[in-house]
Amino acid sequence: MNEPNSRLPHCIRSQQFTRAKLEKLFALADKLHAGQRSYALKDKIVISLFYEPSTRTRLSFESAVLRLGGSIIGTENAAEFSSAIKGESLGDSIRIISSYGDVIILRHKDDDAAECAASQSTVPIISAGCGKGQHPTQALLDLYTIRQRRGKIDGLRIVMCGDLKHGRTVRSLAYLLGKFKDVHITFVAPETLRIGRDILSYLDRHDVRYEETGRLADVAPTVDVIYTTRVQRERIPGLEHGAFVRLQQEYRIDRALAGRMHADAFIMHPLPRNDELSTDVDDTPHAAYFQQAQNGLWVRMSLLHMMFS
Ligand code: NCD
Repeated sequence: MNEPNSRLPHCIRSQQFTRAKLEKLFALADKLHAGQRSYALKDKIVISLFYEPSTRTRLSFESAVLRLGGSIIGTENAAEFSSAIKGESLGDSIRIISSYGDVIILRHKDDDAAECAASQSTVPIISAGCGKGQHPTQALLDLYTIRQRRGKIDGLRIVMCGDLKHGRTVRSLAYLLGKFKDVHITFVAPETLRIGRDILSYLDRHDVRYEETGRLADVAPTVDVIYTTRVQRERIPGLEHGAFVRLQQEYRIDRALAGRMHADAFIMHPLPRNDELSTDVDDTPHAAYFQQAQNGLWVRMSLLHMMFS
């Protein structure tokens, strides 16, 4: 779509970003964070359509739009407060709604919702997380946080752990890591929550070395980053409370485990967390997750700026 000139088209898959585009996006995020002003969204209307709950993603996008001088309309509960409840298809909704604004930010329960919306929309679609598929802007802020902490991505050893089967953030981040050199990924997950074959074959195709192992304690001392995630309980029908608790215990991070990491190694989490990440880690130098969530604002501002200037 509007790819001529350097504008971004839809933002629906993390792998659409080239390294050059990522660098541009991150350099601008640095400047915005340092206080540079942009009014790239002046006279623009952003439509925010959230069919699934959200805290950080929605509010950081709203703040980003307002800081860039734009206006935002929409609903935080589109599943109930839109015509979806009357049986309207997402495609029909998007076809109409895209004529009311300049960009649509969409979160939805279906893996292919952003692609479906993009096929019907006359304006760019930004995925704010769709089903078990992708959450590209989360991956952008995750990568930005790693770069901010370590100054580089190439050559890092990264653990991704938790619910790798249903977690869209790990999937999007794995796709982005495939763009870098000599990255080594260790996947740590309960047997039933292992990473999908599609991601592993993508990594094979992109020469990313990886391994799958069951024990976080064994790898913690040797890595640069541990990226952990909650069990996506709402996406696992019939999961009983006891089983849920046991799953998160299998890879729980507490202060003792964090203490086994290198001094400059750090822990990330897209949040929200449950019991897989103990609050006693929060005041250690290893905790990067609050910084990570704050970075969402600068990265999303940068993305919106790049779409409209
Ligand atoms: C994540 C999501 O929605 O996928 N949250 C977020 O956007 N920061 C992670 C999650 O829900 O577990």
